[in-house]
Amino acid sequence: MKRILFTNEIIQKRIKELAESIDKDFKNEEIIFVCVLKGAFIFTADIFKSIQNKNCTIEFIRASSYIKQESSGSINLINYLETDINNKNVIIVEDILDTGLTLKSLVEFLNNSKPKNLKTCVLLDKKARRKVEFEADYIGFDIEDKFVIGYGLDYDEKFRNSSHIYYLSGK
Ligand code: XMP
Ligand code: MG
Repeated sequence: MKRILFTNEIIQKRIKELAESIDKDFKNEEIIFVCVLKGAFIFTADIFKSIQNKNCTIEFIRASSYIKQESSGSINLINYLETDINNKNVIIVEDILDTGLTLKSLVEFLNNSKPKNLKTCVLLDKKARRKVEFEADYIGFDIEDKFVIGYGLDYDEKFRNSSHIYYLSGK
């Protein structure tokens, strides 16, 4: 069964606020947004459109660790970056921060290229689930430790195309 957590309207409102903070922090400096596939593709598209600064580009990276509802612990990365991020402003855009393992490995990986600035932007943050210390720079919503689907987030690859975010519960 699924219960609505955030409607698309609420999500869009929060995205506008996050985009305003990013615009304020970076003014018109060049920014490379790195979308973490697959879950963040819809969030990245919406936040990218809301950024007023047009001196922005988009890149993609693929990270996977989840099998159905369980975190497998090891992160697989597929790097699709087509540009050199050395000495650039980079913002990683991720759907959800959970154990912290994915973003921690991504940050370590991208830091090898020595960007000028490396920030992280997550739509959802499940702070209670953290296994490694990690704080995102831009956070949409803090949520409880429950599995969520919709708006890019999946259960076994399904439900990514729901426009609202739902809690998935067994009952
Ligand atoms: P970690 O544990 O590495 O997890 O911080 C981040 C990745 O785990 C996935 N994840 C979820 N996916 N509903 C989902 O559809 C959830 O409630 C959920 N919690 C974590 C997600 O892909 C994210 O990239
Ligand atoms: Mg996923």
